[in-house]
Amino acid sequence: MSETRCLQGIWSSPWIFIFAASGAAVGLGNIWKFPYVLGENGGGAFLVVYCLCLLLVGLPVLVAEVALGRTVRSNPIDTVNDLSERHICHSAWVVVPWVAGITGFLILGFYSVIAGWAMAYLERALSGEFMGITSSVAISMFDDLKADPTEMLLWHSIFMVLVVLVVGQSVTRGLSTVVKILIPTLLLALVLMAAYSFSIGDVPSTLDFMFAWSWQDVTFDVVLSAIGMALFSLSIGMGAMFSYGAYISKHMSIARACSIVVAFDLIVAVLAGLVIFPLVFESQIDVQSGPSLTFVSLPIIFGNLIGGQFFAGIFFLLLVVAALTSAISMLELFVAWLHERFYVPRLNAAFVLGLAIWFIGVAVLLSFNHWDTEIVFGMNFFALLDNVTTYILLPIGAILLSVLMAWFMPRDMLLNEMITKNTDHFHWWYNVLKYISIPALVVITLAGWLGA
Ligand code: PHE
Repeated sequence: MSETRCLQGIWSSPWIFIFAASGAAVGLGNIWKFPYVLGENGGGAFLVVYCLCLLLVGLPVLVAEVALGRTVRSNPIDTVNDLSERHICHSAWVVVPWVAGITGFLILGFYSVIAGWAMAYLERALSGEFMGITSSVAISMFDDLKADPTEMLLWHSIFMVLVVLVVGQSVTRGLSTVVKILIPTLLLALVLMAAYSFSIGDVPSTLDFMFAWSWQDVTFDVVLSAIGMALFSLSIGMGAMFSYGAYISKHMSIARACSIVVAFDLIVAVLAGLVIFPLVFESQIDVQSGPSLTFVSLPIIFGNLIGGQFFAGIFFLLLVVAALTSAISMLELFVAWLHERFYVPRLNAAFVLGLAIWFIGVAVLLSFNHWDTEIVFGMNFFALLDNVTTYILLPIGAILLSVLMAWFMPRDMLLNEMITKNTDHFHWWYNVLKYISIPALVVITLAGWLGA
């Protein structure tokens, strides 16, 4: 591989990687998506299956993705070209990074709109609109936002400009400093909010809903949703984590660092559930209300709190920053490739790609109002994009990447160079990836498609 194509610079400490990767993982998926998917899938049983998915699929695939990034230290597209030049895989495997890049592209199309909701709520929080709010007002506040394409367009556009500027200025790596503050602050904020929510909400129903389960509740839909949620939440199967792997040192234990990232991701998601559900049950909001769940319940929490205006402002700001650190990882793959391979200035690459994503976002935000019509299988454009990326593209990316690692990369090369000096960890990872994660992903994904 030519010098120019190699990424430059290695992170000095594992914690920089851990924070950068956590920044990509922790985002709207944890605070907006996880609670409503948990709500739709019956609570406790979903949480148990989700933890198993993180352990048996999420963590091994995350390690695989990061490890591949560290071996070749380039962008994903050039990496596959390089592996095929070394006769490790056929050149047709280049389809993998393309699928990954397109997935990130499509996810950002709707992610930016949801991040726009968080920005709109930041503005409402600061102007005191949540004070004394009741559940019916909170519901209509959210409905009004969804019915207003102009406002959504404004926030979606501002968010995309931020993403383009950050990715275009090549400060993506510098953001680990921001994330170093973001993750602990977000954790602290969620712990405090959960404590407050427990003091005013319905705790017994919440604990029963989130932690009680029985085998009968473990349906196929629950398993499918849990796998999709795990891939989405850990940002795997679309090359984002790969890019971060390229900057880590040879001596770092990828398995240990990735376990910490998975733990952060799970803790933030569970805390978000503990914040939201006491209020959902107390205010008798439907747990199955879907994407609106978080945006309806959070204002009620802040609206009843002394100093709620201030705390709501801080919380929604954290949410917007968390969304931003995830969003940039979605655009990074193609921008890095265009820059390293064709010397396109990063800002130009980010602008052109960002503009295309902006158009996707416009269609998404219209699907909540003027275009709220079914396209296929009873889904509007937003639901279609969400489902296609979560249940088709992310699993395909994760499966192909894992197969490449487990079946094509020479085992010795993996053992010696990539994973860890601890051979027990290596065997554990290798066997789980090969014999559990890949078959589970293939079977569940295929069954999901056939049953759709
Ligand atoms: N994991 C991010 C979140 O939870 C979303 C994401 C998905 C980011 C896929 C990158 C790739 O918000």
